[in-house]
Amino acid sequence: MENNNIPIVAPSLLSADFSDMETALTLIEKSGGDWVHFDVMDGTFVPDITFGHKMVNDMRKRSNLPFDVHLMVYHPETQIEKFAHGGADYITIHAEATIHLNSIISQIKEFGIKAGISIVPSTELSRIQELLPVVDLVLVMTVNPGYGGQKLIPETLKKIIALKELKQKMGYNYIIEMDGGVNRESCAQVLKAGPEAIVTGSAFFDDKDPAAYIQLFKTECNCR
Ligand code: DX5
Ligand code: ZN
Repeated sequence: MENNNIPIVAPSLLSADFSDMETALTLIEKSGGDWVHFDVMDGTFVPDITFGHKMVNDMRKRSNLPFDVHLMVYHPETQIEKFAHGGADYITIHAEATIHLNSIISQIKEFGIKAGISIVPSTELSRIQELLPVVDLVLVMTVNPGYGGQKLIPETLKKIIALKELKQKMGYNYIIEMDGGVNRESCAQVLKAGPEAIVTGSAFFDDKDPAAYIQLFKTECNCR
């Protein structure tokens, strides 16, 4: 799954037309997207509300790509089972959203689903230190979660580099994913930081040539 050089690209449906998710899925597949990223928002942890488990589970019938579910909700432990019974391949919770993180990560894994932990830009890596040996994915938010189309916060990229070093040194297995502010302009600094999975929403759906856009992250492009 993970590759040293070529990152996984996970287009985020947050920037898709919610009235036509099937077309969005087809576009992701046709354009060479590797995963489908679902941004679940509860209107409290972040201001907006998007969709819940039914959306993810219903869409499972329409795609064979891995579903990468990013829960921007308080108390995700109340929802894991519902997402687990449908379509999620990865479920990522926020360190800031609940207290007993270790047990929720175990809960996700007990359903046979890969478990991820995410931190917002203001949260230090040390906050999730004890989870690093057990998670399958670490999602570094490179914008404050809640909206698409924001500008990447460059300071957050240091966490990706630190996670890579820790992974090598300690033999951890997590995939390092980043989310927010990825676009043609930030491509060079993104690739330099070296995430293993890249979430991209508005830049993918707004691009005139989404397949070429994805290829930017897949080839030894000039911007690296
Ligand atoms: C933001 C979401 C992102 C969002 C990224 O809170 O977690 O997944 O879709 O959007 P862009 O790529 O437009 O910054
Ligand atoms: Zn996301």
